Amino acid sequence: MKKPVFAANWKMNFGPQETRTYLKTFLDAFPKTDDRTVIIFPSAISLVVAGFALRDRPDILLGVQNIHWEEKGAFTGENSASMARDAGASVALVGHSERRHTFGEGDEITAKKCAAAFKAGLTVVLCVGEKLEERDRNTTQAVVLRQLKAGISRLNSAQIARIAIAYEPVWAIGTGRTATPELAQEMHAFIKSLLDLPVLYGGSVKPENAAELLAQPDVDGALVGGASLEIDYFVAICEAAVRSRS
Ligand code: 13P
Repeated sequence: MKKPVFAANWKMNFGPQETRTYLKTFLDAFPKTDDRTVIIFPSAISLVVAGFALRDRPDILLGVQNIHWEEKGAFTGENSASMARDAGASVALVGHSERRHTFGEGDEITAKKCAAAFKAGLTVVLCVGEKLEERDRNTTQAVVLRQLKAGISRLNSAQIARIAIAYEPVWAIGTGRTATPELAQEMHAFIKSLLDLPVLYGGSVKPENAAELLAQPDVDGALVGGASLEIDYFVAICEAAVRSRS
């Protein structure tokens, strides 16, 4: 049985105090379970507090939203993978569309970050997804293929086997416009035809649409932005249909 994965990407929200308060309430509302994996991606500045709050909950993993690809040095404002690991993270989000399109990080940087994560002992959730104009031009699969190829280009096969993919169509992120379950299924099946890995869906996942998305055979979980900021919403999403697969 593959466990579904529910990941909260808080983006630039919640400092240490708010993180402590959120997690205390969330842990009370979401008792320990071994039939799904939950990952929390707080701001880097809140990682240590989050790690402390989660110390008795091995069912919940801690992730870092972004890392630099170098181990250390003169990179003002950046955090390395080993620093994130030291702060309690075991997973790194790499290639998020906001990193790609707001901060101009291309395939080469994504590849270097994936390699840096593994070198420091982190695993990776590699995000891929097309922009609206790419979908309109019928280049969705080509774009996703290129992003996948680049993301794994510096990893060995044992490392590749440990990553998860997040398919996040850029036009669905923070817009309230979710991909239909059929469209998500089609892209997840495409990704799985290339790489036999868990594929999470991201882009306006809400309590109202989570179960329907998760019911698709190749949707293995959700990467949740805005709705994860509301504890009740994220709990409801984590409780959305948990399927068993052989
Ligand atoms: P929203 O859920 O706010 O659309 O964000 C999705 C996302 O970017 C998760 O990484």
